[in-house]
Amino acid sequence: MIGITGASGPLGRATAELVLRTVDPRGVVLTTRTPEALADLADRGAQVRRADFDDPRTVAAALVGVERLLLVSTDAVGSRLDRQRAAIAAAAGAGVSHIAYTSVPEPVPANPAVVVADHAGTEQALRESGLRWTALRNNLYAHMQVSVVEQAAATGRLVTNSGAGAAAYVTREDCAAAAAAVLTQDGHENQVIDITGPEAVSVLDLVRLAREIGGREVEPVDVDDHAFATALEEAGLPQPLSELVTSFGASTRGGFLARVGSGVADLTGREPRSFADVVRAARKP
Ligand SMILES: NC(=O)c1ccc[n+]([C@@H]2O[C@H](COP(=O)([O-])OP(=O)(O)OC[C@H]3O[C@@H](n4cnc5c(N)ncnc54)[C@H](OP(=O)(O)O)[C@@H]3O)[C@@H](O)[C@H]2O)c1
Repeated sequence: MIGITGASGPLGRATAELVLRTVDPRGVVLTTRTPEALADLADRGAQVRRADFDDPRTVAAALVGVERLLLVSTDAVGSRLDRQRAAIAAAAGAGVSHIAYTSVPEPVPANPAVVVADHAGTEQALRESGLRWTALRNNLYAHMQVSVVEQAAATGRLVTNSGAGAAAYVTREDCAAAAAAVLTQDGHENQVIDITGPEAVSVLDLVRLAREIGGREVEPVDVDDHAFATALEEAGLPQPLSELVTSFGASTRGGFLARVGSGVADLTGREPRSFADVVRAARKP
């Protein structure tokens, strides 16, 4: 059987929908903290079970019968590593033989993105688990950058701490399609796969798009990490979120998000959606 944790989250649900198109729903186990949120997929025949990484016993019980699992990283940045390790151990105990995990590009100590330690630790736990594993290193979601371009189009300034760096933004839909392919096809075991958009997008690319949709001059404004985080907080972002966003800017500046991989095309048989396409589509009524 195929399993997906965090199946009521946007990525988990999108992956589940794709898996359910290709396999018998009775062979699909969807785990979540909120089974009621997946009543529609239960109605279609999927087995919806409650599991919460905060209580590994629920994970072990929910994964009985599952062979290949997508373990969706949780959103508890900074406090999730131990729980994800425990979830891997619980999955192994329940008989899971292959775990695919939603990771981050280049989870190395030099990468300043604050999520790196959690993902590096979880990838390490997978490698040491004795199970087969697949690290799906999802780049930054494209939709999260759309407001950056729109705001620049509105104000004429694109304030950034990304310097001359670039990021290969990818859509969540493409991440889901790649994950669904790993769950439903053989041959992706013990691999690191970069899940990216079709090109690395620089600040100047963002500026060009902002000019296009705004119909006005837009200038890039380079600031350092401290000034960037301060500006985000003054705009109302809570500090942990401003730290997170600032660290991704620093990661982009350092080149850790720039590598373009062929993962989406290799796994799905079609090219990933471009960032420019996502921005232009967001403008349409
Ligand atoms: N690449 C990127 O730019 C990017 C951006 C944001 C997040 N992410 C990562 O990708 C993951 C999936 O993201 P998303 O797009 O679906 O949005 P999301 O809203 O951040 O999803 C949160 C996910 O965490 C799960 N979760 C939270 N606490 C949990 C717990 N105690 N036990 C088990 N699962 C728990 C949720 O599952 P249930 O609610 O169903 O239990 C849900 O699947 C995120 O959790 C985060 O690690 C990546």
